[in-house]
Amino acid sequence: MKLIVTSPLAADSMSAELEQFLADINLPYIPRRGKSLSAMMQEHNAEGVVVWKKGGPVLYLENEQFFFHPNMAKIRIGAFRKQGQADPMIKACGLKAGDRFLDCTLGLGADAIVAAYFTQTKVVSLESSPVIAAIIKWGMRLYDTDISWLREPISKIEVIHADHNEFLAQQDSKSFDVVYFDPMFRQPLLKSQPLSPLRRLADPRPLSVETIKEACRVARSRVVVKERYQGDEFKRLGIETVYPTSGQLAYGVINIC
Ligand SMILES: C[S@@+](CC[C@H](N)C(=O)[O-])C[C@H]1O[C@@H](n2cnc3c(N)ncnc32)[C@H](O)[C@@H]1O
Repeated sequence: MKLIVTSPLAADSMSAELEQFLADINLPYIPRRGKSLSAMMQEHNAEGVVVWKKGGPVLYLENEQFFFHPNMAKIRIGAFRKQGQADPMIKACGLKAGDRFLDCTLGLGADAIVAAYFTQTKVVSLESSPVIAAIIKWGMRLYDTDISWLREPISKIEVIHADHNEFLAQQDSKSFDVVYFDPMFRQPLLKSQPLSPLRRLADPRPLSVETIKEACRVARSRVVVKERYQGDEFKRLGIETVYPTSGQLAYGVINIC
C-alpha cells in the first residue's frame, strides 16, 4: 500500500520529533503547501496519508482513520477500578506487580496498556508492521490525558518494530515472566464488517509451532495465546489448557515448569 506523510494545513514545518517519526515509519514526507489530502493522494498516487498532528499521527485511508486511542484499555482498567472486575487476559497470564510481560503483537496496544497497569512496570511490545508500529508508538508518546491511571501505563510501554520470531530468537532463556500473543484472526469475527484499517495494515501470518516453542524458552512462567474458542488453532499449536471468555474468544495457556 503506497502511503505518504504530511503535516496539518496550519503547520507545515519539520520538528525533531517528526524527523524521528519519519525515520521510524520509513515513508516519504510531502510538504502540505495548503493542499487537501485527497489532492495530495491523487498527485502522489497514494492510497493513504499520515498527518503528523500534535496529539499523534493519524492515517487517513479512504473514509477511515487509524490512530492510537486507549479506549478499550480505559474500559478494561476502569471496570477493574470501579467494579473490581477481573480482566480475563490478566487472569490467564497470572500477571502480578513487577512481572516482565512481552507482548508479541502490539496492534492498537490495548493489551499492552492493561498489562502495564497491572505489572506497574515496563512492558515490551512488538509489532512487525512498520506503519502500525510507528503510528502507535508516537500516538502513545504524544497522547495526553489527566487520568493518571491511564497515562502511567501508556508511558511504560516500549514499542519495538520487530517480527516476534526474530526478536524471540535473540532473547535469553527465561528473560520474561509471560510471553503473550494476540495474532490476527484468519477471518474477521463479523464477516459483514468492512476491512478495518488495522486489518489492512496488519501482518496476517498465523503463529507457528516453532514460535510457540521459542516463546516457551523465553518465558519463565507462562505463554498465553488469544484466539477464537471455536476452530483448530489451539490444537494446531499444541495448547491444551484453554479458558473461554464470555464472547467467542479464549486464552490458551502453557505453564512453564
Ligand atoms: C489482533 S492485533 C493485536 C491487538 C492487540 N493485542 C491490542 O490489544 O490492540 C495483532 C497485531 O500483531 C501484529 N503481528 C502479526 N504477526 C506479527 C509478528 N510476527 N511479529 C510482530 N507483530 C505481529 C499484527 O500486525 C497486528 O498489528
